[in-house]
Amino acid sequence: MKHLLSIEDLDRAAVEALLDQSDAFLDVLARDIPKVPALRGKTVVSLFYEESTRTRLSFETAAKRLSADTMSFAVGSSSVKKGESLLDTVKTIEAMGIDAMVVRHHAAGAPHRVAQWIDASVINAGDGRHEHPTQALLDAFTLRRHRGPSLDGCRVAIIGDIRNSRVARSTMLCFTRLGARVTFVAPPTLIPERLDGWPVTVAHDLDDVLGEIDVAYVLRVQEERLGQALLPTLREYYARYGLTAERAARMKPDTFVMHPGPMIRGPEIATEVVDGPRSLVREQVTNGVAVRMAVLWSLIGSGGHVA
Ligand code: NCD
Repeated sequence: MKHLLSIEDLDRAAVEALLDQSDAFLDVLARDIPKVPALRGKTVVSLFYEESTRTRLSFETAAKRLSADTMSFAVGSSSVKKGESLLDTVKTIEAMGIDAMVVRHHAAGAPHRVAQWIDASVINAGDGRHEHPTQALLDAFTLRRHRGPSLDGCRVAIIGDIRNSRVARSTMLCFTRLGARVTFVAPPTLIPERLDGWPVTVAHDLDDVLGEIDVAYVLRVQEERLGQALLPTLREYYARYGLTAERAARMKPDTFVMHPGPMIRGPEIATEVVDGPRSLVREQVTNGVAVRMAVLWSLIGSGGHVA
């Protein structure tokens, strides 16, 4: 594997191999000195054309835990502001000598283009509404630790703004690769117009599915991508799709709660649910570092298992 651009490119065995490697790296992170020399001498650059908190810091932490050198590119303070194209920016960075480029871009397919232009490995850290493969892997990893070894038969509801969410697409693909059954729960306007061939069912009423699911995976409404009036009002949306404490109480006692962040605490997901005993939200963030270590190691490491 040279690049990680899409979960579509990974079969079940490939996903499982990455998650097994992530297990080993999670053990490394629990050590007194949470660091291995696996990528010493390698350089990883993050190229983020869109805002990010956890994904960028998580990749940079992962690279450092593997002893790689890191470079970070922030569009706001770069020559992009002077009109430099993506191609020129990428070629300039490559000329400094890098091994992997972690790319987030508002245009779907941008990381695929970058992968055609440079010799380094490219990792998609979120491209438009398309995919966010490492988020999907860390979600699958987190759920597998609680439901493993496989997710066969596990019922997952992905709730909210499916239409605008690259996380929904990647995570749905990754969960189903491991045998889970995914239902998208959203108003009709927030479901993609065409779901041809996607291995999902659709429900419009959250209250109908609450009692049957093993995982409630909540998404943020991406107001910055809504563009047109797809929702009458956010208040009405939250009244029907918010994961309130009252709704959480109607789930099975062992139903897990997940969220990729950033969260809108309160209307979207109640604070007592996020911080409750069935919430995996913080663990998702911790596990993200181990999973990204596994991805970096698989792409630019010297092969084989470490740790
Ligand atoms: C998401 C993203 O940027 O795709 N966040 C993330 O990476 N964990 C989802 C979002 O912005 O709501």
